[in-house]
Amino acid sequence: MTGNSRKMTVPRFQQRKGEGPPLVMLTAYDVPTTLAAEAAGVDAILVGDSLGNVLLGHESTLPVTMDEMALHARSVGRARKSALLVVDMPWLSYHIDPRESVRNAAQLVRVSGADAVKVEGGRKRVDAIRAIVDAEIPVMGHLGLTPQSVLQMGGYKVQGRAAAEAERIREDAEAIVEAGVFSMVLEGVPPKLAKQITGDVSVPTIGIGASPACDGQVLVYHDLLGMLPGPSPKFVRRYDESFDRHVKAIKRWSDDVRERSFPATDETYE
Ligand code: KIV
Repeated sequence: MTGNSRKMTVPRFQQRKGEGPPLVMLTAYDVPTTLAAEAAGVDAILVGDSLGNVLLGHESTLPVTMDEMALHARSVGRARKSALLVVDMPWLSYHIDPRESVRNAAQLVRVSGADAVKVEGGRKRVDAIRAIVDAEIPVMGHLGLTPQSVLQMGGYKVQGRAAAEAERIREDAEAIVEAGVFSMVLEGVPPKLAKQITGDVSVPTIGIGASPACDGQVLVYHDLLGMLPGPSPKFVRRYDESFDRHVKAIKRWSDDVRERSFPATDETYE
């Protein structure tokens, strides 16, 4: 079997450390968002547990379940062609014991055909990371502002500003690389720390609210496209005002319905 020669694989993703342009990763949650990300040629798609915020209306990612991740991962997996597919493990699916972590990671890979799973946290999570990697499932790490730790952090706050905290995150980065991650997301950390970790570790770092020094960047689909009303976090650059455009289109259609100009003759059947 030769497969899709253009397909991004875990080894190809890793080889991009320090080579070529920065890696591009975008979240996607269903068939339309995956088709658009693929058509734009992103390197990797993340089925993020941010779906709890942007799709399900939760205030945090903590309520997101394995069933919800599996449902969205399955749909993304059907539309994904070339990009590396990474699925987030939801809170408590890899915190209890390594055997359960492996079973949950395998379920997400089975339903979606994903290339890898992503887990948040440093030294506390190395047993889970080792067990999942031992079961032949590649793992992407996630350090810094880890949204599943929102209760411990007391909110969504930049991590690693104080020297001791920065040192702890650097040690966490070394520990998860030693445990076998093939890449890691660095979220909400100062540029100096992102640059240091990117220089320290042998795997690609993917930044979000981190720094251009990272080996790649990731954004949430709905943030990038302005799909939700209200302000965005500082680290987001909006490339569209999609919410406003949708509202305008829906208003035009509503007006046409109310004026009986929709549907027109060529929009109805004989
Ligand atoms: O859930 C998510 O979308 C993420 C990215 C923000 C990295 O973890």
